[in-house]
Amino acid sequence: MSLKKKSVKNTVVGLDIGTSKIICIIGELDDGGNLNIIGFGKHPSTGLKRGVVVNIDATVASIQRAVEQAEEMAGLQVRDVYVGIAGSHIRSFNSNGIVAISAGEVIHADVDRVVDAARAVAIPADQKILHILPQEFIIDQQDGIREPIGMAGVRLEVKVHIVTGAVSSAQNIDRCVRQCGLSPADIILEQLASSYSVLSDDEKELGVCLIDIGAGTTDIAVFTQGAIRHTAVIPLGGDQVTSDLAIAFRMPPRAAESFKVKHAGCMVKLASDSENIQLSGAADRSAKFVSEKSVAQIVQARYEELFRLVLSELRRSGFDAVIPSGIVVTGGASRVNHLIDLAETVFEMPVRVGTPENLLGIDGVVDNPSCSTAVGLLHYGLKQAHDGDERTNKKSGGSFFTQVKNWFKGNM
Ligand SMILES: Nc1ncnc2c1ncn2[C@@H]1O[C@H](COP(=O)(O)OP(=O)(O)OP(=O)(O)O)[C@@H](O)[C@H]1O
Ligand SMILES: [Mg+2]
Repeated sequence: MSLKKKSVKNTVVGLDIGTSKIICIIGELDDGGNLNIIGFGKHPSTGLKRGVVVNIDATVASIQRAVEQAEEMAGLQVRDVYVGIAGSHIRSFNSNGIVAISAGEVIHADVDRVVDAARAVAIPADQKILHILPQEFIIDQQDGIREPIGMAGVRLEVKVHIVTGAVSSAQNIDRCVRQCGLSPADIILEQLASSYSVLSDDEKELGVCLIDIGAGTTDIAVFTQGAIRHTAVIPLGGDQVTSDLAIAFRMPPRAAESFKVKHAGCMVKLASDSENIQLSGAADRSAKFVSEKSVAQIVQARYEELFRLVLSELRRSGFDAVIPSGIVVTGGASRVNHLIDLAETVFEMPVRVGTPENLLGIDGVVDNPSCSTAVGLLHYGLKQAHDGDERTNKKSGGSFFTQVKNWFKGNM
């Protein structure tokens, strides 16, 4: 079917290339400034391992299917897509830069120069910078400035969080996307994307840790005072739980996966010990029924290990004491039963499950933690569009990007 080239000026496209699934999601801003999901496509992903592309052909085929589905639903053809990146090759650190303010008041060129100064750090040759995320600006002695443009002073300083990733991993994502006839508008750290769809401004202001537990990786991002302070990736996710169950109950991985989704809970003390769960597909025919408790023993051990790894990462980086809003868990693997009970026991702070918010449209996207990254990519794309528009045409009225600005004002 050939698709009508409907106007794409008000649309943004997110492409989440996950370890278990690929999601393409098309969002449109309506006249009232609401973000509507108008296209959604999802296809199992077989070409990734622990968040990294290991088979280009398989990945390209899955992307194509997901994009086709979304295009068909939206009735338009997409080209520019915001794509996520994850994997244990991701590194991050904080840096700062200082410049003199050229004309007595800060202009965009001063901000560009100071951010350039902050990026002047040695990084390994096999890594490339993915993001330079300003945390705060300091003008003379005044710190905590978010929007420095137009402010008077002589010395401008910026504190930034820099995220780098393996050149080869970013290139492989780029290659897969281009082979599908698409053009990557930007490649975004997945937990940064998820943070746009699941965290509130208040949480980011007060201090919060986002944990996105996917199939292959667990991605962490810490926010305090409204800015991102720390990011990390742990190469463990829901796949590990599935493989533990597959080994323990001698099941093929596919059967173990659906068994997990149906029956897994991660708190032994909240599980029943009556042996009433059937092991369909198990190799050992004699052990046909197991109890919730014996399943939870396996699942809890793995989730607990994962949470302890996150906690030690938080302690190591010194952020465990500055996140009063606690922990927000998202990603498909956050859907396991009793997750909040276990997480609150390990972290000893408030925990909630984060799902995509502030959007209208298709059931199964809103309230689905598996879609947090894809929806977050849309939010990120809209923000980029807004920032770009604000810079190039400060006085434009009634444009798409002015609506984006209004939308952000209303929702973020
Ligand atoms: N109800 C459930 N209970 C337990 N685990 C679940 C449930 N639903 C989904 N999962 C797990 O969530 C994982 C998929 O999550 P998600 O879709 O966020 O991953 P992904 O984005 O493909 O992977 P990654 O982000 O690691 O690249 C799988 O391991 C799946 O088994
Ligand atoms: Mg993911």
